[in-house]
Amino acid sequence: MEVVIESGAQAIAVLVADAVERLLAAKPEAVLGLATGSSPLAIYDEVTRRYADGRVSFARARAFMLDEYVGLPGDHPERYRNVIERDVASRVDFAPGAVQGPDGNAEDIPAACEAYEAAIARAGGVDLQLLGIGTDGHIGFNEPGSSLASRTRIKTLTAQTRADNARFFDGDIDAVPRHCLTQGLATIMSARHLVLVATGTGKAEAVHQLVEGAVSAMWPATVMQHHPHVTVLVDEAAASRLTLRAYYREIYANKPPWQRI
Ligand code: GLP
Repeated sequence: MEVVIESGAQAIAVLVADAVERLLAAKPEAVLGLATGSSPLAIYDEVTRRYADGRVSFARARAFMLDEYVGLPGDHPERYRNVIERDVASRVDFAPGAVQGPDGNAEDIPAACEAYEAAIARAGGVDLQLLGIGTDGHIGFNEPGSSLASRTRIKTLTAQTRADNARFFDGDIDAVPRHCLTQGLATIMSARHLVLVATGTGKAEAVHQLVEGAVSAMWPATVMQHHPHVTVLVDEAAASRLTLRAYYREIYANKPPWQRI
């Protein structure tokens, strides 16, 4: 697991956009994993700028979303499918239908989850998965207690996550859905490169657990310690509880130039 401590969200976005640009140059039909939440927004802005400058194209790429609320009307602005469309998909040149998400309004939820897993597998799996992290250590919507072997399924959001996400629903926690569909931890672990970004002191404990805690379903992101290619990009505040932060800085400062994130 590589830990990169940067000055802020923009510096992080540049590094991640570099990785996306390199991936798409080498493999134009690459499969991206897209995350919602505020953490990836600077990255989406940066890749959109590069697309406008003609540096990167998503025309042959595909993308899979991590998660979706259950039961929000199709046109609800906070439905993750609409959020991803607004934040990134509609701003670059993805082909129609190239971006997919789990169907939170399916009549048969287990069948929709199975179909989503099959679609990811058919696409050849995810090359680069973007991730944020919840204050309780969730990735996607895999809340504490999630099976480390889980696949796409329905989950019940914790009170903490609903409170955290109420800001997207005019501060009204009752408007935040109780259920969601999320790629499971094993689904996320199948991606070839996991890139997790976190900023702010609110994420410091979750980042500490992710990097330095014991692997446990109580801090679901810790499963990433079992993945061979993980990049964790954080600002100073999110890094503030990392015991070995001086070492992570030293590693990054002395990295061989050919070795990218
Ligand atoms: C939501 C999403 C996660 C995201 C997390 C953190 O619950 N399902 O994918 O990582 O929130 O969000 P933010 O980046 O806004 O702090």
